[in-house]
Amino acid sequence: MSNMRKISDINGYVEGNSKWPDFDKKICEEGNVVFTIPKSENIYDAPIFFNPMMNLNRDLSILFTKNYSEKINRKLRIFEPLAGIGIRAMRMLKEIPESVEEIVISDYNTITNSVSNYNKEKLNFTNNLHIFNRETRSLTLDLAENKYKYDYIDLDPFGSPSPYIDFMWPVLNSKALISVTATDMTALCGVYPMACFRKYGGYPINNQHNHETAIRILLGMVVRSAGRHEKGITPIFSISVDHYAKIFFKIENGRGRANKSMEQIGFSFTCDNCHEIYYEKIDGEIPKCCGELQKAGPLWIGKLFDKDWCERGLKSLETMKLPSEKRIAKQLLEGVNEEDLKGFFQISKLCKKLKISQPSFTDLFSKIDEEGFKVIRSQFKDQVIRTNISGRKLVKILKELAEK
Ligand SMILES: C[S@@+](CC[C@H](N)C(=O)[O-])C[C@H]1O[C@@H](n2cnc3c(N)ncnc32)[C@H](O)[C@@H]1O
Repeated sequence: MSNMRKISDINGYVEGNSKWPDFDKKICEEGNVVFTIPKSENIYDAPIFFNPMMNLNRDLSILFTKNYSEKINRKLRIFEPLAGIGIRAMRMLKEIPESVEEIVISDYNTITNSVSNYNKEKLNFTNNLHIFNRETRSLTLDLAENKYKYDYIDLDPFGSPSPYIDFMWPVLNSKALISVTATDMTALCGVYPMACFRKYGGYPINNQHNHETAIRILLGMVVRSAGRHEKGITPIFSISVDHYAKIFFKIENGRGRANKSMEQIGFSFTCDNCHEIYYEKIDGEIPKCCGELQKAGPLWIGKLFDKDWCERGLKSLETMKLPSEKRIAKQLLEGVNEEDLKGFFQISKLCKKLKISQPSFTDLFSKIDEEGFKVIRSQFKDQVIRTNISGRKLVKILKELAEK
């Protein structure tokens, strides 16, 4: 179906006029893009938002956009509705032009728009980058009304994505890819449980599992929103890193798909003695273990990664030269191994709980290996392992190593 109005006729379109706002300039570089931002003492004093520390977040978007385009063998139409100065989009156009048809970016800050427009013209993205000065939700409604659809949406707000997610489904193509970032980690990780419950509809837990639980609560919120629009989701990659959580997932249309995703909503239970974690469906039985159980949710109890996407990601990293390549590779490796390694233990906390000294990871890993189990370090949290050994067996090994 053709669009009802030309994109540049939609309200808030920022026309080509590269007038620089009234600030000193600073030249920056990220990936293959050299761009200009207003000079400031630090990122918090700046009149625009640009955080160089988020380059890993942008690298991931570039990696999965490339892989998705290769999978479906065509260029993608992309929408980033909270784009800041649009560096993610400009990097995509420069670093993976073969994967991108066009990108729409928007931000309600007018100085931000002028900076984006200046860089757009300097970098010569005049045909395939469209900038809007609009509030996210009202722009998305306008795009939907004019029949615009996108293959990839990247939602990167300050704080929680919950206020925006319901608006995204109507502008997504069937089988589209979405990425959602959340930076309100104090809520999601259980420091402020009521804030988490209010924003995400899931009760968090502030223990060794809190970062993985944060991802699962975020996915739970997304699944329920998708379900309201008769869509199901499949997570392909998840990460909790620095001060944020980011998930990538594919959507599929239909009530059946939506119901299937809803079946993966449930609760987690962590044993406060051996730290084993159990996932149960919403109507499942409460498990039994050797200690008291701490409950979190409702949350997503399904897989957090798609093995094939993670393997492809690792392969692409070999040729892409992304700034955060090494950290991304570790998380992709965790994704490749997810199915085998369901156990997730923070060794420092477990040893503290057991009142024993902590062994070296080398000793622990060789002992687990000797016993015939697999183990890797997790990127979700410091001092955490992923393994297929049970909590009780792990406790036995830790006690033996402490006695040596
Ligand atoms: C976290 S920053 C985005 C960073 C950007 N994605 C990047 O990679 O650099 C969030 C941006 O959204 C803008 N923003 C916040 N709320 C908005 C809203 N409701 N509508 C439009 N823009 C909004 C802010 O001005 C800010 O530039």
